[in-house]
Amino acid sequence: MAAHNKRELKRLKKAEKKAAKELRKKERAAAQAAAEQARIEEKKAKAISAKSTPLPPSYFNTYSSSSKNRLDATTGRDDGGYAVASNKRMRINEMATPFCETEHVQKVYDSIAKQWHGTRYKPWPKVAAFIERQPKGSLFGDIGCGNGKNWFACVDQGYGVGSDFSMALLNICNGMGQEVHSADALHLPYRDNIFDAVLSIAVLHHISSESRRMRLMSEAVRVLRPGGQALFYAWALEQELASRSGHVFQEQDVLVPWHVKVGEQGAKTEERVKEAREVVERAVASHGEVDEVKGAAVFQRYCHVYEKGELELLFERMVREHPTVEARIIDSYHDSGNWAMCVEKM
Ligand SMILES: C[S@@+](CC[C@H](N)C(=O)[O-])C[C@H]1O[C@@H](n2cnc3c(N)ncnc32)[C@H](O)[C@@H]1O
Repeated sequence: MAAHNKRELKRLKKAEKKAAKELRKKERAAAQAAAEQARIEEKKAKAISAKSTPLPPSYFNTYSSSSKNRLDATTGRDDGGYAVASNKRMRINEMATPFCETEHVQKVYDSIAKQWHGTRYKPWPKVAAFIERQPKGSLFGDIGCGNGKNWFACVDQGYGVGSDFSMALLNICNGMGQEVHSADALHLPYRDNIFDAVLSIAVLHHISSESRRMRLMSEAVRVLRPGGQALFYAWALEQELASRSGHVFQEQDVLVPWHVKVGEQGAKTEERVKEAREVVERAVASHGEVDEVKGAAVFQRYCHVYEKGELELLFERMVREHPTVEARIIDSYHDSGNWAMCVEKM
């Protein structure tokens, strides 16, 4: 009897030990799952909060565009039209494309051109209406033409010539038989007074200082014939809920992420992450990153979003500072998340 009890006690102890081991195993697995979930949640939160981020302060050391930190306000200018940084150690040629525009605009468009092209195919209604309002046979200059989505409407009305600084987008335009030129919008390779109408749609919000924005405006007017009209669109700080972009901006100078989605629908996340890595490796933009939650490659576009009245103030200042430019604003309005301004050369 005693021997039986001893055996039973031993069996019970063994069972107890096994149960405790199982419990510890389960607790470890639960802790691991919770940690993994927390990691995913943290990544998701980061992805959401990364919808648009303020421009890193270091960018302001070289070029600044916010009204608070404007380069012109804090520095002097030397005789050669160069700005001098506040520490007086650096001369900056403001008309040379700065890092934030080459890395965070030009290289981004070169990296995302294919996806960009897939989502843009016709002019916005009010841009189309502007094109249609111009006399038949008009010659249009589309400055910062992107994938050439406005070109066919221009050709229906007369003829169109596009220009952009993204070679990848220009190649797409070229492949569709469009006449396009590789050019910086601040240094257009055209003679004065050549175009009957000029389009600058969603380009100004990629220009990172006031003097550069004014230079873009003055170039657009220079190539316009007297009596001709130019239409400017730029992203607005004030966004209505149903705007095209769906963005909410906390600051005027921001980096806005562009996700290059990869993989077929239903593809496993690991496959998409691997493909996103390949996209980032192939990208021209060196800052590209992989979003492991979304399985996408992410590039950051520099944008300066405009306050109500800012485009007009800048245009009027440009006209005042360039006595040879004679032009007036004939219309300005808010159109689906953008400020628009139509000007006429006199
Ligand atoms: C938001 S996209 C708009 C494209 C086109 N205008 C449209 O309505 O779809 C901005 C375009 O401006 C071009 N861009 C930005 N800065 C430029 C510059 N300094 N010179 C030439 N093109 C520029 C970009 O390469 C890109 O194609």
